[in-house]
Amino acid sequence: MAKKTSFYAICPLGLESLIVEELRACGASEVKAARGGVFFSGSQACAMRACLNSRIASRILMRLAASDYYDAEDIYNFACRTRWEEHFGPGQSIRIDINAHRSPLRSLDFALLRIKDGICDRFNHFMQTRPNVDRAHPDIRIFAFVDARYCTFYLDLCGEALFKRGWRRDKGEAPLKENLASGLLMLAGWTPDKPLVDPFCGSGTIAIEAARAACGMAPGLSRAFLFENFSDFDRDLWLEIKDDARSCVNLHADVRIAASDISSIVVGKAEENARAAGLGALLEDGRLTFSQCDARSVAAPAAEGLVIANPPYGEQSNPKSASVASMMKNVSDNLKHNFPGWTAWLLTSDRNLPRQMRLSESRKIPLFNGPLECRFFRFDMVRGSFRGSPQKAS
Ligand SMILES: C[S@@+](CC[C@H](N)C(=O)[O-])C[C@H]1O[C@@H](n2cnc3c(N)ncnc32)[C@H](O)[C@@H]1O
Repeated sequence: MAKKTSFYAICPLGLESLIVEELRACGASEVKAARGGVFFSGSQACAMRACLNSRIASRILMRLAASDYYDAEDIYNFACRTRWEEHFGPGQSIRIDINAHRSPLRSLDFALLRIKDGICDRFNHFMQTRPNVDRAHPDIRIFAFVDARYCTFYLDLCGEALFKRGWRRDKGEAPLKENLASGLLMLAGWTPDKPLVDPFCGSGTIAIEAARAACGMAPGLSRAFLFENFSDFDRDLWLEIKDDARSCVNLHADVRIAASDISSIVVGKAEENARAAGLGALLEDGRLTFSQCDARSVAAPAAEGLVIANPPYGEQSNPKSASVASMMKNVSDNLKHNFPGWTAWLLTSDRNLPRQMRLSESRKIPLFNGPLECRFFRFDMVRGSFRGSPQKAS
């Protein structure tokens, strides 16, 4: 039976339950959600599949060892005892990061230095040579977590964070991270058979993540991972896993995704991003569209579907849009008139959004957009409930 190892997958706060499901689908066992991450066990194949396929993880770490400690010298001795040479060689560059939660250590920088000393002293002792530190482009990344009693060493499987799929050419204004955008789609219950509209698309993150998911494109197919540098890396197994993922791609997926933004420059950039994401075929035949349009006058492309968006918060407002609050009132009027039967999900840091829109939310999910505490509001645009439409009145 394949050897089982312990891992920790980091994810945006609030998306833990989604990543639990993803990890199980990759063959993980002993899956246990924590705050902002999930512990799990699995084989090397399971970890590779998780890195390749998870739309929600930010990073996946492999647990090497844990030891209790009293001070930085204990941590140095622990680094000296850890069998790093089983995972990488002295010719590879390293980067070490340390995180603490209720640790009694007085200086984390000093503890980090002592971990580096411990690793280098061990290599010098056994091999008369040691790895160099490269913080910008390391071959191997080590994470140390210290709590009140224990220090745990992890190896990073990813390198660049997993939300970096490799398709983004231009960021636009305040882009969502790709894994948060995928999380919004999952939380909203979007499936490819439901028409999707993002009237504040910016760089196109929500639409692009949706289209790629609909086409079965594994998010990590066009990027590299640090586990490819490990001494025991099984290249044949990895190629097999990637071949499997490639065989799932279906560019004929039947989807209808309409994204728009008030800025034509931003729309052009979103389209560039979509082409770089391998979605040219969907753009050509209109299954995925990007257009310049004010969210206050966007039309529904079908009788029902989902609107999923993150409208500008306060200072992000386009100068053409007056204040965000009054704009959102007009957006709400448009949704009521033109999107009956649709469900709208909006991510915002503004808790007053329902009041600004004169709508009551049917659900509210707390989430974080980076450090910004947000709410993901659901509004049901009930058919026939809106009276006095301006079209009828005029
Ligand atoms: C927070 S950003 C959206 C970011 C996007 N989710 C992404 O990942 O790149 C808000 C966007 O709303 C656009 N915007 C502002 N007012 C608008 C309006 N009245 N109609 C349509 N788009 C508008 C801005 O140009 C900006 O691109």
